[in-house]
Amino acid sequence: MDKNYKPNPENLVEVNDLKMYFPIKTGMFSTTPLKAVDGVSFSIKPGETLGLVGESGCGKTTVGRALIRLYKPTDGDVFFDGKRVDEKSIGTLRKDMQMVFQDPYSSLNPRMTVEDIIGEPLDVHKLYTSRSDRREKILHLMELVGLNAEHATRYAHEFSGGQRQRIGIARALATNPRFIVCDEAVSALDVSIQAQVINMFEDLQKKLGVAYLFIAHDLLVVHHISKRIAVMYLGKMVETADADELNAHPIHPYTTSLLSAVPYPDPKVAKSSKRIILEGDVPSPLHMPSGCPFRTRCKYATEQCSAEMPKLTDRGNGHLVACWNK
Ligand SMILES: Nc1ncnc2c1ncn2[C@@H]1O[C@H](COP(=O)(O)OP(=O)(O)O)[C@@H](O)[C@H]1O
Ligand SMILES: [Mg+2]
Repeated sequence: MDKNYKPNPENLVEVNDLKMYFPIKTGMFSTTPLKAVDGVSFSIKPGETLGLVGESGCGKTTVGRALIRLYKPTDGDVFFDGKRVDEKSIGTLRKDMQMVFQDPYSSLNPRMTVEDIIGEPLDVHKLYTSRSDRREKILHLMELVGLNAEHATRYAHEFSGGQRQRIGIARALATNPRFIVCDEAVSALDVSIQAQVINMFEDLQKKLGVAYLFIAHDLLVVHHISKRIAVMYLGKMVETADADELNAHPIHPYTTSLLSAVPYPDPKVAKSSKRIILEGDVPSPLHMPSGCPFRTRCKYATEQCSAEMPKLTDRGNGHLVACWNK
């Protein structure tokens, strides 16, 4: 933690050198730190969306959870609206920072009605004056996410995946947050439903001015909704840029390979781009390669790459890349 770190007052969320290590038992008396997130920095302005992409296991969920302090970070600085997020401040900041999960089925209590699922955060934070005020607030939230008022007394299992995700979003919105971590929030849905829910996230942002950290392994999904995109590989940020810039001019070899794997709906784009198949497996975060973690799968890797992790450097217009050779 850097006690003297001063966040930029224009940012709603600011993260500096965030680290989250999990101690893993490797012997009877020994543990090894699994470096799930290893020095990640980024910021999000009010009402803006930052997309976070990378293969499964690269640390996206851990970033989201450590950010809103569902995990206690190993190190780093997190600020919300200029205030340091720590054990003391999180109690009052919790209302402002919510999370929507991938699997609405397991995150919604099957024994609760829709009304009680959405009403629970209202109860916890005492956000109503009377029973009828509570009910009115719940119905308003249901309307916001396109759910019918008649659905209030039904149970979560009676709904389709897309509708369950809407219930989860209404619940996250109940405390009127200014920031929501959406962790693979549309990844489990059918493609047609995905588009509807993404559009709803965008409408809600326009209406309510809420900012998102939009986490997904699918670059196409993230590109659609994000103003900026950050690319992670094995706990580290390797590239960040405006969404269109990243899509049109990726620089890091990992981003290039991720983009080449996206099945583009536009046949012209699909034809002109060659698919790059990455060789080798993702190394285990318990046995992280020295230097740049991507070097074991990178065709441009040199000795320098195994000696030292390159820093993110600005290649112009806020396009940041961590690579020695590109
Ligand atoms: N609670 C935990 N304890 C130990 N290891 C964990 C825990 N949560 C995640 N990990 C490990 O941290 C790494 C990053 O996981 P995660 O953040 O879930 O990645 P992603 O969301 O990108 O798929 C993985 O190697 C995962 O196994
Ligand atoms: Mg995840």
